[in-house]
Amino acid sequence: MSIFNSHPPKINKNKLIKWLITNYNFKYKKKISLKKLNSERDKNYLLSINNKSKFVLKISNKFESKKFLELQDYVLKSLKKKSSIKKIIPKIIHKKIKTFVDENNSPCCIRILSYIEGKMYADSKNSIDLESSLGSYVGILSKELQNLVHEAAFRKFEWDPSSIDWIKIHINLFKSNRKKIIQKILNEYIYFVKKNKSNLRYSLTHGDVNNYNLVVSNNKITGLLDYGDMLFAPTINDLAICLAYALMNKNNLYDSLKTIVLNYHNQFPLTFDEIFSLMTIVKSRLTITVVMAEKQIKKFPNNKYLVISQKDAWSLLYKLDKINPYIFVYLIRDFCNYPIIKNYSKLISYLETNKFNKIFDKEINEINKSIINLEAKSLFSRISTNDPNKLSKKIKNYLLKNNSEIGVGLYGEKRNVYKGINYISLFNYNERRNIHLGIDFFINEGTVIKSPLDGKVVILHNNKNKFDYGPTVVLEHNVNSEIKFYTLYGHLSAKCLKKLSIGKKIKKGDGFAEIGNFPINGNWSSHLHFQIIVDLMNEKNNFPGVAEKNLWSMWSKISPNPNLIFKIPETFFNKNKNVDNLISKRKSLISNSLSIAYKNPIQFLEGKYQYLFDDKGRQYLDCVNNISHIGHCHPRIHEALTSQNLKLNTNSRYLYKIMNDYSENLLSKFPKKLDTIFFVCTGSEANDLAYRIAQVYTKSKDVLVMDNAYHGHTNSLIDLSPYKFKNIGGGGQKEYVHVAEMPDGIRGKWTYSDNKFTEKYINQVKLLIDNIQNKKNKNLSCFFVESILGCGGQILLPKNYLKEIFKLVRKNKALCIVDEVQTGFGRVGNYFWAFEEHKVVPDIVTLGKPMGNGHPIGAVITTKEIANAFNNGMEYFNSFGGNPVSCAVGNAVLEVIKEEKLQSHANQIGKYFLYKLQKIKKIFPQYISEVRGKGLFIGIDLIKNGNNLLPNKYLALDLVNNLRNRGILLSVDGPHHNVIKIKPPLPFNKSDVDFVCYEISDYLLHK
Ligand SMILES: Cc1ncc(COP(=O)(O)O)c(C=O)c1O
Repeated sequence: MSIFNSHPPKINKNKLIKWLITNYNFKYKKKISLKKLNSERDKNYLLSINNKSKFVLKISNKFESKKFLELQDYVLKSLKKKSSIKKIIPKIIHKKIKTFVDENNSPCCIRILSYIEGKMYADSKNSIDLESSLGSYVGILSKELQNLVHEAAFRKFEWDPSSIDWIKIHINLFKSNRKKIIQKILNEYIYFVKKNKSNLRYSLTHGDVNNYNLVVSNNKITGLLDYGDMLFAPTINDLAICLAYALMNKNNLYDSLKTIVLNYHNQFPLTFDEIFSLMTIVKSRLTITVVMAEKQIKKFPNNKYLVISQKDAWSLLYKLDKINPYIFVYLIRDFCNYPIIKNYSKLISYLETNKFNKIFDKEINEINKSIINLEAKSLFSRISTNDPNKLSKKIKNYLLKNNSEIGVGLYGEKRNVYKGINYISLFNYNERRNIHLGIDFFINEGTVIKSPLDGKVVILHNNKNKFDYGPTVVLEHNVNSEIKFYTLYGHLSAKCLKKLSIGKKIKKGDGFAEIGNFPINGNWSSHLHFQIIVDLMNEKNNFPGVAEKNLWSMWSKISPNPNLIFKIPETFFNKNKNVDNLISKRKSLISNSLSIAYKNPIQFLEGKYQYLFDDKGRQYLDCVNNISHIGHCHPRIHEALTSQNLKLNTNSRYLYKIMNDYSENLLSKFPKKLDTIFFVCTGSEANDLAYRIAQVYTKSKDVLVMDNAYHGHTNSLIDLSPYKFKNIGGGGQKEYVHVAEMPDGIRGKWTYSDNKFTEKYINQVKLLIDNIQNKKNKNLSCFFVESILGCGGQILLPKNYLKEIFKLVRKNKALCIVDEVQTGFGRVGNYFWAFEEHKVVPDIVTLGKPMGNGHPIGAVITTKEIANAFNNGMEYFNSFGGNPVSCAVGNAVLEVIKEEKLQSHANQIGKYFLYKLQKIKKIFPQYISEVRGKGLFIGIDLIKNGNNLLPNKYLALDLVNNLRNRGILLSVDGPHHNVIKIKPPLPFNKSDVDFVCYEISDYLLHK
């Protein structure tokens, strides 16, 4: 016999009252009354004295050990001392545990506790406040019990929900569905609790925080009763037990669970591993309740208390049974701000940082896309989901109109297209699952789907329900010992069901299925639903593709944004502006003398290193924007700019250290002689100032420039730029401007075939200078030159050319000004400045474009002597030049060039590029006369019929427009508009080179 199968004590009330009067020293002994309270195995009474003082009289079962009662008293006394919880703990009134002999002649222990007024939790109206109070107090209880120890607590106890093996032998108490549910819980218990026990914290536990042991007043817990189930057990037992009862009869499981668990967690943080077991312990406790009830009812058919919670326990068990146990684990981990699984952040960063194989024939980012919006009231959702034919037509037309090959259905979109009972939330029957967990690709039926990485088929099933996936495949991707995830493909054709089998390995890039069509695909218009799954949660056939709003935070972690795989630029998902509107508005507002690139202009929304992304989510490889020298939108530049801008941005008449630091850093890149800076904002300003300095220094105005050069857009510089003044709209050559022939070995006055080629060009300059000097009142002020002739068509200057010209210029006391606006900052690879190659030191160097990686800064670098001569009393002031933000940005650019070794990278990649282009030239001599350049400053000279003298501007223009459609940005330059200019951001890599070279070859091949 034990206390569980013996009857409660048999009491004669009158005898008991007499006994009480003689044994206790009550203050008013006149009127003692006893009212029976519920108990399963003891006899408990509400003891009232004179209708005033109330106590609880506890008469224990004769089999109850005294030691165990001492344990209860020990805990009550200890908790009563804790200010955090004492309010809800009954006070011990008896001094000593006494013994009373019942009607069966059995000695029973008697204890008296204070009575706490209030309603039982079971009879109280539920509210958030009450659930918060419950969660908090159970948390505090767990915390305070951590440090208490008592030998009597170490015992085996059938009500311990962390040990339910014993239930196995009672499984036949139940039939059909109930039996199935209990069996499922027993299996779940082994994995989620038994095997996890070593990861749980153990302590004294109350053991029965149920709705009838909690007293409530004013929406708060005011009493925790009945310490008769105390046990040394997993600490979370108390929370689990409290949840088992508190979740009964709740329409909204989610809210109650969250409130109670979070309030508990705030008082006593749950551990990651405890959460793994928590909800299974809840189910175990409910299982004990129903098993005990079934067992005990048979023995004690009259004890109503035994059946009290059985009905409610079953209805909660039915609800919980429908929810995958992992959902609870991940939901609660998410409540408590834990990652849902171990290594979650490793997995996400793996997905973020890796490039995956394309899933269709074409790379998603290399084709034009449009968003297919299915949220309520959208263009497409207005079409009944029962009419996929109509929807398909509408989508096709829309894509056609928007020049897009593929429609993209959005992750995280709330849709009202999911009808039927399958989409009702299991946590709250008033809520529907309607937020999309995948990304949809609307594309033709039959399109082959390829695996983005190596995988294995783990789900292969036809999910036939209406609005479901139809044929579905899930692949498992075991990346390494720490990283594993799954990808789901829904709405396939039926082919894969025959072709594939569970366990089949699929190699990265292998086509394994095809897009299906209605009705087989769940009756949708043809598309792929693609979803990432972090943990399959033991699902065997299907996996939720939409989630309820309440659970979105968790679901968005179980199934994170699939764009982690595709890397469609985020700006694509913003509401985009229509390009046509942009063009017409721009044309009406902004001067039309500024041209727009391409026959089909592009609206770029985003840039990243050497890539730009347009409003169709398409990626373009940027081969021309040398301003974004260290890469588009480099985070270091953003950081330098914003942090300085938040501190200070003012003009250069004040002192700030960053200006000195940057100047020191920049000057260290120059020969010693060049030791003084003037800060400006653009390349034009730099050249304009350089010319002004030269004029002041030499007191002369005449200037020597290279033919076809461009040095800037100011009044003075247009006159110094044959590229402008010679061409349409130009005002012609001014008499003080002298133009040196470009040493163009192909179409110049003297060509490579002339063995005195360089000498003859030098002589031409000598003649020019002599001519100037011979004229009365005329003197040369300066010679402007780029170290590689950009607008001239990326022409390299021959060896010794600059050296000799510099000698001639200096002989006439004029200055040598090198324009490094295009070529500076390591672009040419072997040198930081392109002039260094020619073993010359200019008198002035001008800088711009790459200097601020897109931020407008420029500079004039010269010698002290020249700078001092310019300081003639007229101040040089530039409102923006050299401001703190510009200096911070400029400095960051220099740092990144150094840290990312961009100069040597440009050298290496440039050599590879030239090597590959030379190979193309050999294959297509009819189209290419020369490939030339240094580092990542390259030109391809295009010709007609293999004739060097026939520059082919049509081919150049067509090639640039054609490669734009292939996702490559290039431009044309040179006096004959036949030179393809290549000057990409320096992060440009080998595979970018391969891509460009492949596409150029392919274009030329199909000409
Ligand atoms: C060689 C050269 N110098 C100067 C400039 C003028 O620079 P900015 O456009 O910053 O005024 C340019 C612009 O393209 C250039 O190519």
